[in-house]
Amino acid sequence: MPRQLFVTTALPYANGPFHIGHIMEYIQADIWVRFQRMQGHTVHFVGADDAHGAPIMIAAEKAGKTPQQFVADIAAGRQQYLDGFHIGFDHWHSTDEPENHELAKDIYRALRKAGLVFIRPIEQFFDPVKAMFLPDRYIQGECPKCGAKDQYGDACEVCGAVYAPTELKHPTSTLTGATPVLKTSEHHFFQLSSSRCIDFLKEWTHEPGRLQPEVLNKIKEWFTVDEHGHGGLADWDISRDAPYFGIEIPDAPGKYFYVWLDAPIGYLASLKAYCVKAGLDFDALVDPDGPTEQVHFIGKDITYFHTLFWPAMLKFSGRKTPDRVFVHGFITVSGEKMSKSRGTGISPLRYLELGMNAQWLRYYIAAKLNGKVEDIDFNPDDFMARVNSDLIGKYINIASRAAGFIAKRFDGRLASTLGADGSALLETLQAARTDIARLYDEREYGKALRETMSLADRVNAYVDANKPWELAKQPGEHARLQDVCSTCVEAFRLLTVYLKPVLPVLAQQVEAFLNIGPLVFDDASRRLGAHAIGNYSHLMQRVDTKQLDALFEPPSPQPSSVPGEGANGGAVSGGASGAAGATPGGEALAPVINIGDFAKIDLRLAKIVDAALVDGSTKLLRLTLDVGEAEPRTVFSGIQSAFKPAELIGKFTVMVANLAPRKMKFGLSEGMVLAASHADEKSHPGLFLLEPTPGAVAGLRVR
Ligand code: 2FM
Ligand code: ZN
Repeated sequence: MPRQLFVTTALPYANGPFHIGHIMEYIQADIWVRFQRMQGHTVHFVGADDAHGAPIMIAAEKAGKTPQQFVADIAAGRQQYLDGFHIGFDHWHSTDEPENHELAKDIYRALRKAGLVFIRPIEQFFDPVKAMFLPDRYIQGECPKCGAKDQYGDACEVCGAVYAPTELKHPTSTLTGATPVLKTSEHHFFQLSSSRCIDFLKEWTHEPGRLQPEVLNKIKEWFTVDEHGHGGLADWDISRDAPYFGIEIPDAPGKYFYVWLDAPIGYLASLKAYCVKAGLDFDALVDPDGPTEQVHFIGKDITYFHTLFWPAMLKFSGRKTPDRVFVHGFITVSGEKMSKSRGTGISPLRYLELGMNAQWLRYYIAAKLNGKVEDIDFNPDDFMARVNSDLIGKYINIASRAAGFIAKRFDGRLASTLGADGSALLETLQAARTDIARLYDEREYGKALRETMSLADRVNAYVDANKPWELAKQPGEHARLQDVCSTCVEAFRLLTVYLKPVLPVLAQQVEAFLNIGPLVFDDASRRLGAHAIGNYSHLMQRVDTKQLDALFEPPSPQPSSVPGEGANGGAVSGGASGAAGATPGGEALAPVINIGDFAKIDLRLAKIVDAALVDGSTKLLRLTLDVGEAEPRTVFSGIQSAFKPAELIGKFTVMVANLAPRKMKFGLSEGMVLAASHADEKSHPGLFLLEPTPGAVAGLRVR
């Protein structure tokens, strides 16, 4: 029976460009969607920007834009990533669009009618200068437990204590530096703790196949109330006071929905807008009794929202609830954890700009993914090995070894019947289709690809055993040559079926070369037989080490022309263009920070005790720095264009000494040296290292 599927990925905050974590999730979902379509199912696959919330409002203000303009600029940068990585959303929307405003208000009204919304006053920190209530992350002070300075309003990074912002000692607003005052305001709450919600959620979460076992275990913990009455589901604060960028709550002037209330509703809003565009019936697709399965792909950090709040909101507003929530882990790069706002060391856009093939990354990520909530790691050496030896060495190679003979010797015609060994080989490949299909459906892409590559190994063993290049030299072996090469082409087509969800563009090229229509999964049960194929031209290049090196080198400090791709994540840039003079050094000043922000950066005088070229890098120097510690530090710095190693040795300079160590391709970099350059280095060349006046000693703090 053909399935009807409505598939979403988590909506990214519209405060910065996509990072590799977003791209990984979209690739995971896109592969699943393409696979389902190859099975003959109908899929509606939508995404959107998550536009609301205080951080976006504040970032927009700093950028001198309205929040609407700010999120529109971010949205303008999205498509190049999606196209670049072959991610085929049917529609991309924004939670600030009218459909979402309407749906959010409708759902809220229905929840209120169901008696699940109540209002109660709460006391919160308020910034008297900015005249706004402060979200926890905009409050800093001393930890009430250990006394550590500059801790955020919710938890201490030093001792790990969790507390309310009102417990901080000497709190300040990070927005203005003012001391916040306590102020009362009425908030709207969704009664998640009600027995109605709990009973429903226990049933919904336990439905077989709905959630991964490890997700269900986590949820069971959330349900549990301990012997002191602690734990269990708590009511959810769904309102925020003006000023706020969001959707105003009906009949509550000056109150807005908390961003997490309207964000998932954005899934429905995006589908609705898509339905208008595509002439589909939205109400039918979200009918609680209808056939459509609603599937959400999300990261593990937002499980609570998607498995508790979201299904409860839908259920008690009388709507269809999600059928499956597929949770994935995070992606690290060379073991380095990703920051939610900054991403990791690799920029997806840089990957594309370097001319790297998007399908390499799709293949590599797929090879690492499974149906569990496990983190995966992007490792450059592993990436190169998997792409070059598996994808090119095993799969592409089959076509390049056989197709030329078919074209040259047989006018493109495949043999109509094959020998026993070739037939047996193809039967083995065909028999794998049910297993591989099941693995794709279960999101066990790593296993599906391993299975496919082991089939490719068998094909290569067949090629090695039959040596078409030798048959080609023996006049009596004409028919055998056609048989062997036809078997290889048939096998290559079968492997292409299995790889198509991951390599959609390559599959299209193969379809063109084989002179066949778009491959679907069921094509793996058939053979081409007597059929004329086209000319083979090389299908995929190997990964080049130079590209990988460039991907991992620190980008040169140039303003980017791409919206939302500025060095600061696009969130707070004042813009780098404009009249000379207004933008000293070619870029506008960064937004104002307070002295507390500055104090977080520990700058030290460092003596360069050694400097050396880095094998395989045209940009980096390896500096050995004495910072007055027991051991010298190693820092990789992109200053090779401006300095010869020898001229640096013995000099003093300034380094950021408390920057988290960063694993690079060449080794661990334990800090950063400071150098000045024009924003547009190409037209204003020059890189200037900072040097203290004479008499300086290593280790002194710069303040
Ligand atoms: O965590 C995040 O990045 C959120 N913007 C995800 C929202 S998903 C959905 F609910 F919209
Ligand atoms: Zn503490």
